[in-house]
Amino acid sequence: MAKKIYWEYSRTLMEFRLLPGLTTKESQISKVSLRTPLVYSEDEDSKYYLNIPIVAAAMQSVSGVEMGIELARLGGVAFIYCSQSVQQEAEMIRKIKKYKAGFVPPETVSPQTSIKELHELTRKRGYNTFPVVNGSNEFLGIITKNDYDVKPHGHLPVEDRMIPRSEITVGVNIGDIKEANTLLRETHQPYLPIVDDKDRLLYLVFRKDIRNHLDNPLEVLDEQKRYLTTAAINTHDYEKRVPALVEAGADVLAIDSSDGHTVFQGEALKWIGENYPEAPVIGGNVITEEGFNYLVENGARAVKVGMGGGSICITQEQKGTGRGLATSVIKVAEARDRYFKETGRYIPLVADGGIVHSKDVVVALALGADYAMMGRYFARMDESPTEKMTIRNQVMKPYWGEGSTRAREWKEARYHQAMFVEGVEGFVQYAGKLKDNLPETLSKIKASMSSVGAANIKELHENAELEVVSALSIREGQPHDIYLPGGDNSYTAINWGD
Ligand code: IMP
Repeated sequence: MAKKIYWEYSRTLMEFRLLPGLTTKESQISKVSLRTPLVYSEDEDSKYYLNIPIVAAAMQSVSGVEMGIELARLGGVAFIYCSQSVQQEAEMIRKIKKYKAGFVPPETVSPQTSIKELHELTRKRGYNTFPVVNGSNEFLGIITKNDYDVKPHGHLPVEDRMIPRSEITVGVNIGDIKEANTLLRETHQPYLPIVDDKDRLLYLVFRKDIRNHLDNPLEVLDEQKRYLTTAAINTHDYEKRVPALVEAGADVLAIDSSDGHTVFQGEALKWIGENYPEAPVIGGNVITEEGFNYLVENGARAVKVGMGGGSICITQEQKGTGRGLATSVIKVAEARDRYFKETGRYIPLVADGGIVHSKDVVVALALGADYAMMGRYFARMDESPTEKMTIRNQVMKPYWGEGSTRAREWKEARYHQAMFVEGVEGFVQYAGKLKDNLPETLSKIKASMSSVGAANIKELHENAELEVVSALSIREGQPHDIYLPGGDNSYTAINWGD
């Protein structure tokens, strides 16, 4: 006889509807904030926050460098997949970290650095502009790759070729990006050095970064104004992978596993906590209160919730394990809220797998999640790492699970111990650029929150009332008793009534 049998069905997100509450002036759509914690942090002003409650899954067909950059620019993050070598994953993180916004503490050179050394540095770092400072960090000038030619100038010191301080407009103690922009507009320079009142260099502000920053007010940044980067790890090679990812600049790590309630995950969390306490780790996936408690006791600072619901997932079919995502979130959120009451530590929950519509995201949030992880949604975009293809006149992109045969070709991947696959390989309909798709998704989420009367996700947790709907009522919510036009003068009739 089994230890326990639950007779209630587990529920999916699609089975719930939100009941409207009073929409206040504060919760009108234009005022709704989607800011949400990425991992537990004592400091509300820390970098560990997202500006939209959506992140891209750690999958080969979803999250590479382009997705990492574009999603951070738009307020979320993409989890770089770990089904690749440690070096390749670290290199992806490094590439995302190169992008920066606004005020950048720059790498400097001394006036005595030779042009040859500078040229080498330019090649290694991929930057073209280096401020020149003396031993007290006083700003002396700037040298860019337009100011020298290695062959004739290689032996010269930088000070012989730099543009000297006297010819450069600088900002003194400016901390506001708009102020820096105003000053830059008056110059012909592509950059603005910012110094303190003793002429010591603080930052370099680039014209192109300012424009980018002003166009993307939701971008998520670290303390050095670089994009926030998040990386997946596994329980097999974390002792090698974590040091390389942290060194490359990963801000947050997430253990990628379809079943996170394991001693292997407990050990990995403990090891990282002891050796890399500066790297917060998201644990998961779990679907029970016990799973949540276990991960948090071992140091997880956020927890991914969900098993078996992913669009490419066949875990339920193969292993018979899993739970509807709504029930999983409800159960784990109960444990999280209890843990919060007892300890004052708020552990964000990530609803993961099988989220298809914007409304599913809101339902997951209302039930207690803090953000949603999606694979299929992002796989359709230009920024996913796959190539578009046309199949029967439809533009598609390939999409495959991390437990599919295709991903398992990466032999150290997480499923390498199993003799069977847990995911499938297929196609999803191409959707275009992320920046052309995301606004509609976010606008729907905001509209639902506004209807509930929630100005932010915390209020959604507090105010939301949900109801399970019948299959018939779901049908009623779709167009019916109407002829819908199709292509070529055709139509689809949906008629139930007279
Ligand atoms: P989707 O948004 O419905 O496409 O689900 C994406 C999620 O499915 C990921 O974030 C993972 O949690 C999960 N997943 C990814 N690959 C596999 C797989 O091969 N088998 C089972 N689950 C997977």
